[in-house]
Amino acid sequence: MDLSASELAPKYQRILASCEPYLVTYPGNHGALDLCPFGLPIAPERIYDPTTMRSREVIDGLHHLDAFSFGGQEMLMPRWVLFDCGEFPGIVFGFGRRASELGDELRRAYDVIGPSYNDVFVPLSMWVAIRCAEDGAWFGHNLSSSNYVAQTEPLSGLGTITKSYGVKLAGVVKQYGATQWASTSINLHLALGDMNLLNAYTPAHTHVETFTYRIDVDDERLVAPLRPGWRRPVDGGDRYVDSDDPGAIRALQDEIEQGARLHLHRVERKQGHAQRLWMLWAK
Ligand SMILES: CC(C)(COP(=O)(O)OP(=O)(O)OC[C@H]1O[C@@H](n2cnc3c(N)ncnc32)[C@H](O)[C@@H]1OP(=O)(O)O)[C@@H](O)C(=O)NCCC(=O)NCCS
Repeated sequence: MDLSASELAPKYQRILASCEPYLVTYPGNHGALDLCPFGLPIAPERIYDPTTMRSREVIDGLHHLDAFSFGGQEMLMPRWVLFDCGEFPGIVFGFGRRASELGDELRRAYDVIGPSYNDVFVPLSMWVAIRCAEDGAWFGHNLSSSNYVAQTEPLSGLGTITKSYGVKLAGVVKQYGATQWASTSINLHLALGDMNLLNAYTPAHTHVETFTYRIDVDDERLVAPLRPGWRRPVDGGDRYVDSDDPGAIRALQDEIEQGARLHLHRVERKQGHAQRLWMLWAK
């Protein structure tokens, strides 16, 4: 399935017109990937092998992106974690621009100030995904976008288009992921497929109030939010959990371990930083 730019909502057209897609992975993986997701070719010079010197600056950029997106959430990745768990065995996919095409705020954030950095390729978003042992299954390890830090140069929709095209590139059939109940990214993931809840409370994770999910990928659903006129559901849901209610999260974990099957339906913002996650019982 290919998508032409004219099929996309204007904010996504702007991203495709002003940014280039890139990929970091070991070349041994190329044959297993779609290097032209939805018909968007990744230029050979924007495909980086993490074992080469040529990849050094773009990988420095990934760590700047990670630091301002996840540093404050106590989930900063050491360089070896991104190499061992993402860049080499899996994929790091996203969109970026040459430093000379960025404004001052982003040049500062990525530490690429001055003419000597003009040609450095700066990754403005990344979806890091790791292949699971199960056929067709991938774990979404990190999603970040420069919109999180840049106030003056917003690229609305960057996170969404990055994950959508990244899932296509990897040929993901089952997408697993882990997200905090209070995360502002849930709406983004939810737009790309039903998030089946695998658990609700995760002592194995740094943050126990993390849920694990599975999206059974469907191409039409994956691109639906990119099309003009797409809207999120604003009502409905069989039950909810509030992100600031640890007792409800813990109780849901027990229910799921006893066999309850639910998927997320929509996010309702509450006052402050909390949100109410509405769910539907699996049919
Ligand atoms: C989450 C993140 C990747 C989103 O990137 P983005 O480029 O802003 O994404 P989009 O513009 O495609 O936004 C998609 C939706 O995300 C939600 N969203 C993004 N940032 C948000 C924020 N600060 N507060 C509330 N909602 C937000 C919105 O619902 C938005 O949808 P809408 O505006 O169309 O209704 C980015 O904010 C980020 O890097 N965050 C820090 C890292 C992180 O927490 N990643 C998620 C880990 S699972």
